[in-house]
Amino acid sequence: MSFSIDKKACRLVLFGGNGDLSYRKLLPALFNLERKNLLADELEIIGCSRATISAEQFREEARQGLVENATADPNSTPEVTQRFLSRLSFIALDATQPADYAGLKQLLGKPASNGCVIYYLATPPGLFVPICEQLQSAGMVNEQSRLVIEKPIGYNLASSIEINDKVASIFQENNIYRIDHYMGKSAVQNLLALRFANVMFEPLWNHNYIDHVQITVSESVGVGNRKSFYDNVGALRDMVQNHLLQLLALIAMEPPTHLTPEALKHEKIKVFRSLRAIEGKRTRYNTVRGQYSSGDVDGEKVPAYNKEGDNPMPSDTESFVAIKADIDNWRWSGVPFYLRTGKRLKSRYAEIDIQFKNIHHSIFKLPTQANRLIIRLQPKDSIKLLIMNQEPSLSGALNLVADPLNLSFYDQYDPADIPKGYERLLYDCIIGDSTLFMSRFEVEEAWKWTDTILAGWEEYEVPVEYYPAGTMGPDAAEQLLAKDGRKWFNNRYDND
Ligand code: BG6
Repeated sequence: MSFSIDKKACRLVLFGGNGDLSYRKLLPALFNLERKNLLADELEIIGCSRATISAEQFREEARQGLVENATADPNSTPEVTQRFLSRLSFIALDATQPADYAGLKQLLGKPASNGCVIYYLATPPGLFVPICEQLQSAGMVNEQSRLVIEKPIGYNLASSIEINDKVASIFQENNIYRIDHYMGKSAVQNLLALRFANVMFEPLWNHNYIDHVQITVSESVGVGNRKSFYDNVGALRDMVQNHLLQLLALIAMEPPTHLTPEALKHEKIKVFRSLRAIEGKRTRYNTVRGQYSSGDVDGEKVPAYNKEGDNPMPSDTESFVAIKADIDNWRWSGVPFYLRTGKRLKSRYAEIDIQFKNIHHSIFKLPTQANRLIIRLQPKDSIKLLIMNQEPSLSGALNLVADPLNLSFYDQYDPADIPKGYERLLYDCIIGDSTLFMSRFEVEEAWKWTDTILAGWEEYEVPVEYYPAGTMGPDAAEQLLAKDGRKWFNNRYDND
């Protein structure tokens, strides 16, 4: 795989350094960059949190995290693993205590002497503002300092504006990296290549040829020990406001003039502004809220949402959402985008289905099926185009079947070479490329749309519909499409 190497020295400060995200995703992603020799010799990683662990313990826990989560076994490359772990240090710090920042400041020395400092806030959004304020008061922010914040940015539009305003008064906008790890997935960037590096799709990419679009992000995991966190969030805020809307924007946007952060963000915002608000009573007809009851996933008995992990108390939080979205612009008029995501569904996969319209006039005795483009984002990236084909036979009539033209990235490239979401985004942040990050206006437009749905749910007391774990969601989600004479494709490429 060819890659133009650009290494930048910097210090990466991980707030929430010994948390789940850090051990499961961030450190394994940085380790992959180490394996690919993409980290500058001077790059240092400083973990911090309230935990009173030593640097040695931090390195040991990080090593364990690599064993469990890295794509390559750290024990098979002891020198690389050692080099990576030696970059790690740790400092105990209560994010809200001004005095605690002195130690961090001392550890960082003079920022200008060793490239930029990246502050990565792998913390709940409630800590974003306090940490930024403390960094500023301690004199630890300059025009080279970068800030990375995780979705969800806030809890709704109002809180996201508050965070964005405050953060903008401390960091320059071009130094703020709002991360949505779906944008870092190779298959998601490939949507740009598919649409804008090929001539054959763009002329058909509109209401004249496309019947509808389905976007599914299906997870087989439950909320487990994140139940109390999830009770305050729900699938609409956790998955739709960010990941699914980002996917929708990449499918629906106009071609950007250049592949620059500004051009891309500008086109995505236009899509969000064209999303028809789903308000009031329409939330009952255009959305479905679901929650899993107990069931079987992969042959294993699993508990209901309300019996999960750290807070086995009844709650009507949604673990599943399905939405019929409309985009009111010239290109997409009359083309519904059906969005669906949920936990404890049958299997883990993410897929975008572009269902084309059928041919206008048929010369065949047998019915033809409309073409479908199936973009599989995970677990194994692929693009399939279902085309009508003639099945070999001696019968008088042509036997038409829908067969896939199949491009499987997973078979074509070594899976270890396909960068993971966080790997790509951390690398981009280190080299200062914000193309795949979100602007505050995107985040705010997305909140505007989801806030309206949340308000409708509350006003009209839209109930959660229960679905057994291990299925593809509640019946009401099937009805959402059935009302329009359609069906979810449910991970199948054969038409039914
Ligand atoms: C996170 C959500 O952003 O994405 C989680 O907070 C979800 O609830 C996860 O499980 C899914 O990510 P992926 O990459 O496994 O599809």
